[in-house]
Amino acid sequence: MKQIVLDINKALGAITREQVYAQDSKAEAANKTLENGTGKGNDFLGWLHLPSSISETEIADIQATADIFRANCEVVVVVGIGGSYLGSKAVIEALSGPFDYLENKKPVIVYAGHNIEEDYLYELSNYLKSKSFGIINISKSGTTTEPALAFRILKKQLEDSVGKEIARERIVAITDKARGALRTLATKEEYKTYVIPDNVGGRFSVLTPVGLLPVAVAGIDIKQLIEGAVAMETITGAHMPFSNNIAAIYAAARNELYKNGKKIEILVNFNSKLHYVSEWWKQLYGESEGKENKGIFTAAVDFTTDLHSMGQWIQEGERSIFETVISIAQPQYQVEIPSDEQDLDGLNFLVGKRVDDVNKMAELGTQLAHVDGGVPNIKITLPQLNAYYLGQLLYFFEKACGISGYLLGVNPFDQPGVEAYKRNMFALLDKPGYEEESKRIQS
Ligand code: PA5
Repeated sequence: MKQIVLDINKALGAITREQVYAQDSKAEAANKTLENGTGKGNDFLGWLHLPSSISETEIADIQATADIFRANCEVVVVVGIGGSYLGSKAVIEALSGPFDYLENKKPVIVYAGHNIEEDYLYELSNYLKSKSFGIINISKSGTTTEPALAFRILKKQLEDSVGKEIARERIVAITDKARGALRTLATKEEYKTYVIPDNVGGRFSVLTPVGLLPVAVAGIDIKQLIEGAVAMETITGAHMPFSNNIAAIYAAARNELYKNGKKIEILVNFNSKLHYVSEWWKQLYGESEGKENKGIFTAAVDFTTDLHSMGQWIQEGERSIFETVISIAQPQYQVEIPSDEQDLDGLNFLVGKRVDDVNKMAELGTQLAHVDGGVPNIKITLPQLNAYYLGQLLYFFEKACGISGYLLGVNPFDQPGVEAYKRNMFALLDKPGYEEESKRIQS
């Protein structure tokens, strides 16, 4: 099997290869620190060897549960927020057809608990009225407001529609092994459960049941996904010298760019199926590195669509950005450009070429233009967009994130900043236990 390829050549100019390679010992040390568990946040390193440690039995169990959902449900609602839904959504969107849901492919996967929107929940509830549906409820803490609220509403709807007994069989909870409201509820209601390991944070949980169960329900081969991740786990291991370790090189390059004033990294794709991979990546790096008043701001665009909007800013706006482009070498299908007798659109010069030939020239043309415009480009090439290479990509980004956070000097595995809005929201809602804050904020 091939591997994904990293190319930093077009980032050189803003930084030099020597600068990046001068980070070799620091990056190798950061990788060893991860491996030895001697750095900041070392109680959250369970993701490091997840791919190689998942057993056949665990995979078979997840697959069996997924098969039950597939047999019994027209729709499966994945309830979760942040790290508890972005990984599965990233994989499912990347590996599904954009029109699958219109063809009554079973089951349709929809999401809830990633917002607090009344209209969204009303419309979802309405849609589910005529459907046989199941729920995968995911929350590591088991106390997050958004998914708890959505689950309360959906659970009632399911129970009202099929009765408590059948509802119980159509709900799976994925949560902490012992703590939290969701664990208590799941035990009381006797739901089938999966455990999110203590030492795996939400944004690193895609290769636990958090990601794997919804992905398997969508009919995607989770073994292939894991195999891809295993390959990347091996080739980015702590034993690997810097010059052969693409995760370490990516981590070092983006840190050097940051030091040189490139404060924003834009993840670019030329295949919009990767849109949610970008959303997952934004969380992974944004939440891991954005702390202590430092860290690259993570943004993302889908090209060529966004070349007609954000393309202007990227070409000529403030020069504080760099791009990391995910390129797919081979599309899954072939569409040849047909001849047209009248040629009123002037496209006959493309006859016989494939649509992807045009997309690739757009990609190359964009890279040249952006590099000329002062936007360093890093490129990551996947031979194909399939479960195996996606598994590689996900683990690649996770490993590079750990190394990058240590190079930056932060704890990449905590997220203290996400609590601030919650405290205010609870105080404003007069939640018991928040009396002091309530008085303060409402005065
Ligand atoms: O990465 C993280 O830790 C967060 O995005 C969490 O996953 C998110 O806040 C959801 O938390 P929980 O799974 O506890 O409901």
